[in-house]
Amino acid sequence: MSSAVRVRAFAKINLSLRVLGARADGYHELRTIFQSIALHDTLTFRQVRGPFELACDDPACPTDETNLIARAAAQMWSASGRKGAPHGVAIHLVKRIPMQAGLGGGSSDAAVALRVLAKRWRVAGAKIRDAAALLGADVPYFLEGGTMLGLDRGDLLFPLHEPASAWVVLVIPDFGVSTREAFGWFDARGGARGLQPSGSELRARRSPETLALPGWPEGLALREMVNDLEAPVAEHHPEIARIISALRRAGAAQAAMSGSGSAVFGLFSDRSAASAAMTRLSAGSLRTLLTKTVNRQTYQRLAAT
Ligand code: C5P
Repeated sequence: MSSAVRVRAFAKINLSLRVLGARADGYHELRTIFQSIALHDTLTFRQVRGPFELACDDPACPTDETNLIARAAAQMWSASGRKGAPHGVAIHLVKRIPMQAGLGGGSSDAAVALRVLAKRWRVAGAKIRDAAALLGADVPYFLEGGTMLGLDRGDLLFPLHEPASAWVVLVIPDFGVSTREAFGWFDARGGARGLQPSGSELRARRSPETLALPGWPEGLALREMVNDLEAPVAEHHPEIARIISALRRAGAAQAAMSGSGSAVFGLFSDRSAASAAMTRLSAGSLRTLLTKTVNRQTYQRLAAT
């Protein structure tokens, strides 16, 4: 890494997020469909003489050892057999993905740091995947990208048929939601009781190829577009439900909360309809972003180091 290396860390939305039950390890069993979107942070890696450094253009983003990038660096450093604290690399992060929004920004940044530093410090692929799962339940997804089915904690991944690209209008409320808190609200409402997977759903879990997304985005089976965290989060933040309705009224083929929120997305097959919806929602003083789905091939090409 003699000259600077610049890499994009793409955000995701969850096209669907079913919570199938609580696990003994404090996590929840999920069945989710991840989809990469073009919105991204940018990480620039530079060689330095001294200790590892992390800086971010957004003062709201912590740059201490609580940042997943710093934790990824520590993991790769020790996985490479080196002792002590990481050394010799400085990372500058340009943060565009809103935080506490359910868009996976911190996890995506961590996955980029894992890949780049593993290459620099010669760490084998299996150790990268182990470190990713330790850093967070959705970090392994960001090593792959595109349209993926996530089982277990969301980290047992199966590639799905890649749908044609769709326009995505993101609405970012002025509050964030902590993932841990959102799952807590889900449990407080009775958790996954009554939501136990049916026989056919269980079969589908074992046959991920049946989860292709036909007729996307208009014909996407509504059954697949369910986020079980949406109602518990909307109970504490009613604005979420209002934004989903507003996106549907503005013509979104589908609209839902992403992950544990607070971001809400609407899918559109053409750009002009998406722009018109954005104008309408922005007039109501909502913060909106226009982006596009990204398939796995593009993700892997653009996120290459
Ligand atoms: O893995 P990550 O640190 O991103 O998860 C944050 C929190 O979200 C976990 O500590 C857990 O409370 C909750 N979570 C969960 N089940 C999942 C993923 C996350 O309960 N599958």
